[in-house]
Amino acid sequence: MKASYLFVFLLSSAVIWQQACVTGKKVQKQNITLKQAFGNDFLIGTALSLDQIQEKNPEETALIAEQFNAITPENIMKAEVMQPQWNTFNFEPADKMVEFARKYNMKVNGHTLIWHSQLPAFVRSMKDPDSVRQFFENHIKTIAARYDKKILSWDVVNEALNEDGTMRLSVFLEKLGENYVTEAFRLAQVAAPHTELYYNDYNIEQPAKRKGCINLLKKIQQAGVRLDGVGIQGHWLAGKVPFKDIEESILEFSALGIKVMITELDLEVLPRNVQGADVNQRQASNPALNPYTNGLPDSVQQQLAKDYEALFRLFLKHKDKISRVTFWGVHDGQSWLNDWPIRGRTNHPLLFDRSLKPKPAYYRVLKIKS
Ligand code: XIL
Repeated sequence: MKASYLFVFLLSSAVIWQQACVTGKKVQKQNITLKQAFGNDFLIGTALSLDQIQEKNPEETALIAEQFNAITPENIMKAEVMQPQWNTFNFEPADKMVEFARKYNMKVNGHTLIWHSQLPAFVRSMKDPDSVRQFFENHIKTIAARYDKKILSWDVVNEALNEDGTMRLSVFLEKLGENYVTEAFRLAQVAAPHTELYYNDYNIEQPAKRKGCINLLKKIQQAGVRLDGVGIQGHWLAGKVPFKDIEESILEFSALGIKVMITELDLEVLPRNVQGADVNQRQASNPALNPYTNGLPDSVQQQLAKDYEALFRLFLKHKDKISRVTFWGVHDGQSWLNDWPIRGRTNHPLLFDRSLKPKPAYYRVLKIKS
């Protein structure tokens, strides 16, 4: 009896082994995942929605767990969620996310302490500088302290710059003055001594904004305040990825002695007039601007794959400077680009499609490592 089991076992193992040899690379290609392939290079992250943190869809949870080793909350750590009313904090979703990360052995990047968008209404209507300062200090201290030792890092300040590199006009700039960015890092450093502190923004690979960004980061450093890294968001357009600017930025940012990250990677495949990622910019809806509701044509699919491959080749070339590459969403169905800058479109910017199947871009990225 036992011998016959052994025989069947050996026979089937031999068949599997033979198939693996015959199809060679194909077997490897299907089995290896993003976090395995890039495990020694940089963290591979994704933004997670509340539903994903709550594990609403087991198939999605399995995909997240096998592909990624870092997560960024897409919305639940923004001020409007964390402090909906003055000094009333809503820690539950973020606590749940910390639990999720622990369960699946992932690093968390907190996103974000100070940002002009998705602020609670009570801050948006504040008139006097003292109230804004009180909110600013209380918000940073309370939240940064609570998650110290529980998360790896914070996007302390998000999107403080204009396209020309000057400071963006926001409630913080207006009421607290230019130094608010350094002050935010100073407060975070005291409240969260064990947490890495980053500045995060879009289009900072572009020369003028990059220059302004470097000045801003140098100011933080010159004030003797800790700055651990900079996040280039990476909301780019397929077919128009600014590879040269990205490479120059990686080198210039890293020369400041800080980590560089790609923090919100996605590649737009639909037509739009808006450049960058200003969440408050909107464009009117029009069916001509939503051409791929039944799937991506092969030519666009190939362009997307080609761009993702070239990007990951570039990231690998500078893996000593890049600590994390995070996609802004797990799959196309979840992407914020279905609703920005035009609501209700069918977009295809990520490596997994709406049915959670890997796209050609996924295989092209993995092939670099095979
Ligand atoms: C986006 C989210 O993905 C959307 O769900 C939300 O409606 C708006 O914000 N830059 C950032 C992110 O730093 O926080 C934004 O996320 C996308 C642009």
